[in-house]
Amino acid sequence: MAAVQAEAWANPSSLHGFGLAAAEQLERSRWRLGELLGCAASQLVFTSGGTESIHTALLGVAGQGSPGRLLISAVEHPATLAAAVQVQRLGWQVEILPVDHLGVVDLEALDRLLVPPTRLVSLIWGQSEVGTIQPIETIGARCREAGVLLHVDAVQVLGHRPLAFDALPIDLLSLAAHKLQGPRGVGALLVRQGVSLSPFIGGGGQEAGRRGGTEPVALVAGLTRALELCQARLGSHGGQDPIADLRDGLLARVLELEGVCLSGPDPRHAADPPRLPHHLSLLVANPCGTPLSGRGLVQALWQQGYAVSSGSACSSGRAAEGGLAPSPILQAMGYADAEAASGVRLSLGPWLTAADLEGVPAALEQARVRLQAVLSAR
Ligand SMILES: Cc1ncc(COP(=O)(O)O)c(C=O)c1O
Repeated sequence: MAAVQAEAWANPSSLHGFGLAAAEQLERSRWRLGELLGCAASQLVFTSGGTESIHTALLGVAGQGSPGRLLISAVEHPATLAAAVQVQRLGWQVEILPVDHLGVVDLEALDRLLVPPTRLVSLIWGQSEVGTIQPIETIGARCREAGVLLHVDAVQVLGHRPLAFDALPIDLLSLAAHKLQGPRGVGALLVRQGVSLSPFIGGGGQEAGRRGGTEPVALVAGLTRALELCQARLGSHGGQDPIADLRDGLLARVLELEGVCLSGPDPRHAADPPRLPHHLSLLVANPCGTPLSGRGLVQALWQQGYAVSSGSACSSGRAAEGGLAPSPILQAMGYADAEAASGVRLSLGPWLTAADLEGVPAALEQARVRLQAVLSAR
């Protein structure tokens, strides 16, 4: 990124030599990303990240033609909920598909609603809080059959499994670089050929008129390099993310602690739906079974040097100050409020080794003891 910034620092829309150099670099990245993602370079629209990609997709479709119905699930990221509210303001109906106790979308409810006026379905592929991977190929096939567009939020999935966009029954796909150890502030929307979008952000006609604003050439180069590194890692492990082994070892050890259980699919159960390979989500209770605060545990773990999250990272820092902050995702999966406020999420990355994770169960136990002592003193 530093090298690209030094050489291709200009506005890629400028016609002078500096601009042409930036445009050439941008198009080189676009072409390479298309190759890595299994689509044509022209199908990529660069954005500032997942939130903007999702808005570009949903509002881009909603801006075309007469209002219809949008289906989303009960376990979407807040970015999709926010975009759906804006879609509703354009006169669309929005329906929320229920999920089961593992966070999987109810396919019968989907089938019932895949009739006019439904025009668009938007689903999170890998759920950020509980790790559930939706059966996107099945859902996409049903959407195709019904002539309904499908947008997929692949922000959590990309980098953890190979992805060939053109081979999938998906019309629009959102991704962000920062989930691949790439830079913050850049992402992309993949758009199937023939799908037209009204620009969510208008302006200078960049990105083939689909997103206004000068493209961040160095950030796009960072996204490209990050994805190259992820694909290389997957490629050398037969398409599987090797982090899953580390995660499974950690899971077995934390579940030995009394009062700790897993939310979302269990990777050790063949009958469960698949789970994001880098992801663990726990519900933590005291020895008597009373759920503890996930937010409190996050703070107590940080005091021991572990950076973990409760709920969605984007909102968990701001959630109900001091009070119970049940996760809407866990609530949608059928958990009672107190349990739904006891979630802790551990996300692993390729920089970690088994030795780094050695102390996690003991730290979790200590966090639990500390939190229990605070509660007892109240
Ligand atoms: C599944 C999912 N969708 C969307 C987003 C929003 O992406 P961004 O933070 O790049 O705007 C995130 C962010 O963590 C996410 O996990």
